[in-house]
Amino acid sequence: MLSPKLLQALNKQINEEYYSSYLYQAMVAYMEDLNLDGCAHWMKMQAEEEHQHALKIFNYVIERGGRVQLLEVKAPPMEWDSPLAAFEAALGHEKIMTKSISALADLAQDEKDHATNNLMQWYVTEQVEEEANVDDIVKKLKLVGDSGPGLFMIDRELKSRPAPNPVADAGA
Ligand code: FEO
Repeated sequence: MLSPKLLQALNKQINEEYYSSYLYQAMVAYMEDLNLDGCAHWMKMQAEEEHQHALKIFNYVIERGGRVQLLEVKAPPMEWDSPLAAFEAALGHEKIMTKSISALADLAQDEKDHATNNLMQWYVTEQVEEEANVDDIVKKLKLVGDSGPGLFMIDRELKSRPAPNPVADAGA
């Protein structure tokens, strides 16, 4: 049985993951508006991945006999100053998510809940990858600066991002 404190924190994390999905979906709309199909595709895959992250905790809470509480998802921004600014915002967001995952892992350890700590370790590893992937794109965009052909090439590269593997099973 999950402790009430842990259950509340997990429900909050489900909300954070849904917000992440919503944020990336807003970035899909922004990139589509700029006709950057590859950037839009990358953001779409990211939005799907965040949905999977939310579902993984959702399923876990149920498996542990807890009650999922879906909280209100706040509205994401609609505009960014440039594609680079959007990816920088994504990187900033992932750093915030890493902190909230770490806090959840700390709480699970404090509560001696090994199963939840185990689940959170999966997210800890995932966050390393998430930050590294966005950081790589930010660096490339900085490198090309205002170059139209450079942006065109990065956009084409981002189009090849594969769909995320379903990870929603609690034990995955
Ligand atoms: Fe699910 Fe990108 O944090």
